[in-house]
Amino acid sequence: MFDLSGRIALVTGAGQSVGEGIAKVLAQQGAAVIVNDLRGDRARKVAAGIVGSGGRAVAAPFDVTDYDATLSHVRAAETALGGPVDVVVNNAGVAEGRVIKPFRELSPTEWRAPIDLNVFGAMNCIKVAIDGMCEAGWGRIVQISSGSARTGQNINQTMYATGKSGIEGFIRHLAAETGQFGVTANNVALGHQENLRDKMSPEMIQQILTTIPIGRFGDPFEVGAFCAYLASDEAGGITGQTLDFNGGSQTR
Ligand SMILES: NC(=O)c1ccc[n+]([C@@H]2O[C@H](COP(=O)([O-])OP(=O)(O)OC[C@H]3O[C@@H](n4cnc5c(N)ncnc54)[C@H](O)[C@@H]3O)[C@@H](O)[C@H]2O)c1
Repeated sequence: MFDLSGRIALVTGAGQSVGEGIAKVLAQQGAAVIVNDLRGDRARKVAAGIVGSGGRAVAAPFDVTDYDATLSHVRAAETALGGPVDVVVNNAGVAEGRVIKPFRELSPTEWRAPIDLNVFGAMNCIKVAIDGMCEAGWGRIVQISSGSARTGQNINQTMYATGKSGIEGFIRHLAAETGQFGVTANNVALGHQENLRDKMSPEMIQQILTTIPIGRFGDPFEVGAFCAYLASDEAGGITGQTLDFNGGSQTR
């Protein structure tokens, strides 16, 4: 079950953390993986790790917000791997050095960046693959979102949440358009992940853990396993959904 042999998967922001876990699990399940990251060193390291473990992967260092770069890198990777992309996992969503400020302090330039990455960046990656998927009569799109898309939180993340809720709506409509072609599209709304430990004080971590019923953060390989399922033949009946992956935290 959940065999991805013969599939070609593009995973964005796959140079570390959640995206790295997704890329590695898809490869373990048999997919050839296009490992995208803005940072070429990270993409190459993850792709080399997959190849070193006997899998198939190529590094694709490009900025997902740049449509022309997305198109040319994906076409080059498809040539290298011998076929068109049939799985897209849009994971890139956190820009390095992103601005974290209350809305009242944001400038119009600052408030566009998270939308560019989370909405237009994700759309670029879908756009370059969607015709091929529809023509093949099979495709899988997995959009990594966040519980913050559906909650109001005083954490200086208004624009990140706007980007995530925007792309969630896009995915629901896209799923309605492409279901007839065998192409599914779903959102996976993550809760707090293990890599937050590096970004927060021990006190803050303890406070957050009290809000998570399973008492721990999410693990990149668990997220990868869920994406592998959604990318599989067996998940063909699930589309247009937003699936929470958050250890039981309440986000609705
Ligand atoms: N970590 C969490 O607790 C958490 C919670 C909810 C949702 N999420 C979502 O999970 C996803 C992964 O988050 P993470 O914490 O693993 O992120 P991360 O910051 O650890 O890694 C993100 C990777 O994306 C790359 N990247 C950034 N901008 C890019 C661009 N324009 N083009 C290509 N690559 C780019 C970075 O170089 C980096 O390697 C994101 O969509 C995020 O919104 C994470």
